[in-house]
Amino acid sequence: MNTKTISLDEELLKVESQYCSWGDTVHYAKHLNIFTNADGIYLYDRQGTPYLDLQMWYSAVNFGYKNKRLNDALKKQIDTLPQLACQYLHEEKIRLAEKIATDIEKKFGVKGRVHFNIGGAQAVEDAIKVVRNHTGKNLMFAFMGGYHGRTLAATSITSSYRYREHFGHFSDRASFIPYPYQFRCPADRKGACCDLSCLKSFQKLFESEYYSVVNTKNNNCEFGAFFVEPVQATGGYIIPPKNYFKELKKTLDQYHVLFVDDEIQMGFFRTGTLWAIEHFDVVPDIIVFGKALTNGLNPLSGIWAKEELLGPKTFGPGMTHSTFSSNPLGTATGLAVMNLIEDSDFQTSVPQKGAYFLKKLNALKNKYPCIGEVAALGLALRIEMCQKDGFTPNRTLSDTIMNIGLKGQLKHKGKNYGLILDIGGYYKNVFTLAPSLYISEEEMDLSLELFEQALQQALV
Ligand SMILES: Cc1ncc(COP(=O)(O)O)c(C=O)c1O
Repeated sequence: MNTKTISLDEELLKVESQYCSWGDTVHYAKHLNIFTNADGIYLYDRQGTPYLDLQMWYSAVNFGYKNKRLNDALKKQIDTLPQLACQYLHEEKIRLAEKIATDIEKKFGVKGRVHFNIGGAQAVEDAIKVVRNHTGKNLMFAFMGGYHGRTLAATSITSSYRYREHFGHFSDRASFIPYPYQFRCPADRKGACCDLSCLKSFQKLFESEYYSVVNTKNNNCEFGAFFVEPVQATGGYIIPPKNYFKELKKTLDQYHVLFVDDEIQMGFFRTGTLWAIEHFDVVPDIIVFGKALTNGLNPLSGIWAKEELLGPKTFGPGMTHSTFSSNPLGTATGLAVMNLIEDSDFQTSVPQKGAYFLKKLNALKNKYPCIGEVAALGLALRIEMCQKDGFTPNRTLSDTIMNIGLKGQLKHKGKNYGLILDIGGYYKNVFTLAPSLYISEEEMDLSLELFEQALQQALV
C-alpha cells in the first residue's frame, strides 16, 4: 500500500474534522472513506480498491456511475448553453416538461404541468405551496416512518421528531398516520394476513367531527393533502399491500384531500415502473421527483400537478422561484435520462433482476435466523436485520456490517473489495438496497457473496 496516498487521506480527514460541518450525515459512519473515482456499480478509493455500491447515492444514480450517454449530454450542454437565468426559456426545459407531462397524461389520463426546482426537499416545498394555494389549508397528513427532506417545511411532514427537535416549534407539523408495514404491523396483526386495519382506523377519523379532522355537516376536511411515499424509502423500503392506496384514495377523494405522491427516491424505474405509484392503481394529484432525474449529475427536481392545481390561473408567475431551478445542465441531463428510458426496456429488465436478487436474498434469509425479512419491488430491496428470534430489531448488527463494508477489506478472488450499504428503517436495522438498474447477474452474485462475508464477520 502506498504510504504517500494514505498520509494524504489522513491529512484530509484531519482537516475535515476541523473545518467541515458535522451537521450532515458523514459522521454516522465509524469508518470514513475518501473516494476518488466511480464507474458502473463501483466507487474507488485512492488505492484503487473497488467498493460495490448497493445504495447508488440513495437511488440518485439509477443508471450507473459515468453513464456515457448521460455524461455526454451534460458535456454537450456545457459547450452550448451551460448557464441561463431561469426567467429565460431554453429548449431542454420545455421538452423535458413535455415528456414528463405527456407520459403522465398517457398513463393516468390527466392533464397537468411541470415545475422544476433543484433538490428534493425544495420540490416538496413547492408541492406544499401548490396544496396550500389550491385548498387554502395548511394542514397535511403524512405517514409515520415517512421522509420528505430536511428544509423546515419538508421536515414538518417528515415523521422523525429527531429532525425537528432542535429547530423550534412546528405549528403546521403533519398529522402522522401509521404506514401499512406488514412485517411490523401497526395493529400488531401477525403474519401475512393484512386486513388493512391501519387504513380502517384512518377512515374512522372521518366518521365523526369529534375525531377532529372533518366537519361532518359539510364534509369539509381540515387537511389539504396526504403526502405519500408509494414505497416507504428511508423508512426501510417498505412495500404496502397492493390495494392500500386505492382504498386510501377513495376516502381522500370523498373529502377533497389531495394525494401527493413523493417519488423522489422510488421514481425513475427503481421499482420497475417510471413512477412507483403505477403499481397501485391510483391517480395522484401531484407527483414530486428529483434524484435520478439527472442520474445524480447536475441536480434538478420538480413537481407535476394537475392542470387545475398548477395551471396559470391558479399558480401564476412568481408564486415560487429559485435561482438554479430549471438550470440547463440539469434539464439537458434530465431530458437525456427520459430519452434513455424510452430507448430501454427497464419495465422488463428491472423486475427480472429484482426477482433474481430476491431469490438469492431469500436463500440467505433461510440460512441466517437474524435476517427477519427480505422483500423487493423491482430493484428496491430490503433486508431487515434482527436478533436470533428473527423479529427483534438488531441495529448493532446492521451498523457492524455497514462498517465492515466500508473498510474495503472483503475478499473476492484474492482481491480486496468494499461494500456500500445504506441503513434505514424505523429501528435503523434495515439495509435498503438500491443497486444500479444495469447490475448484472454476476454483480448480484458478488454483492451477495460480499454481504454474506460481512455478515459472517459481524456475527463472530
Ligand atoms: C422520499 C424522499 N423525499 C424527499 C427527499 C429529500 O430529497 P433531497 O435530499 O434531495 O432534499 C428524499 C431524500 O432522500 C426522499 O427519499
